[in-house]
Amino acid sequence: MVNWADLKIAIILLGPPGAGKGTQARLLSEKFGFAHISTGDMLRTAVKNGTEQGVRAKTFIEAGMLAPDEVVDGIVRERLQQEDCRRGFILDGYPRTLPQADTLQALFAQDVIRSFTIGISVKDDVLVARLGGRWICPSCNRTFSRQLSSGSLKGLCDKCGVALTQRNDDAVEVITERLRVYREQTAPLIKYYQERGTYFQIDGDQSPAKIFYSIRDTIAKRDGADRATAKGAAR
Ligand code: AP5
Ligand code: MG
Repeated sequence: MVNWADLKIAIILLGPPGAGKGTQARLLSEKFGFAHISTGDMLRTAVKNGTEQGVRAKTFIEAGMLAPDEVVDGIVRERLQQEDCRRGFILDGYPRTLPQADTLQALFAQDVIRSFTIGISVKDDVLVARLGGRWICPSCNRTFSRQLSSGSLKGLCDKCGVALTQRNDDAVEVITERLRVYREQTAPLIKYYQERGTYFQIDGDQSPAKIFYSIRDTIAKRDGADRATAKGAAR
């Protein structure tokens, strides 16, 4: 039985736009207390605040392209220093290119951290429908879904009462570009992590709760197997 409070791990959530990385990262963070690191959220905040990093990333985000590696690497490196990452963290949307993956491996090596990469797979037509039906509260950043709310979405955040908005990059033409960029620059990371034996694929076309349990059970099973191997080697 895995003791989640004792684990120091990194969970990398890999998947195309709309796969449910943010949704699962929030659930994992709430249940296990790991820090949730979303490079997309951090970049959007940087754009909103007009920081140097935000100014450099803005045009890329709006076009559905990836921000420069050095901008994102810098943001992540800084974030991982924070106290709430000491026990473990969930990476939602990072790494997204092979150079970013190499940067992260180097950071892990410094900290001797174990990592699990969870690939969430969902077909393109489902992704496009999900992103078109996603609404966000600009005040608390919670995400709402037309599909998951089965038509009961009222246009206001049920917590803040603020009018929900849509992300600019959820426009259909930008979604098409984001999917193309994912296939070209991010999908190769599947092989990268498969070769390291840390990649686990989950069917993302199920309910969020079922996906969460699959991720939890996958990590618990692998952790148990690793501990048994380590025990055997120590004998
Ligand atoms: P980012 O914000 O990371 O966007 P993304 O990867 O395109 O993914 P999304 O946030 O759109 O989807 P998600 O997988 O989080 O799904 P969600 O849970 O919201 O990045 C945005 C931009 O920032 C990039 O294009 C790039 O420019 C830049 N950037 C970010 N990271 C970068 C990096 N590392 N390098 C360079 N540039 C970077 O779910 C989607 C919807 O579906 C929601 O409405 C949700 O409620 C619903 N939903 C979730 N799960 C389910 C389910 N199981 N069934 C039905 N509906 C579901
Ligand atoms: Mg997201």
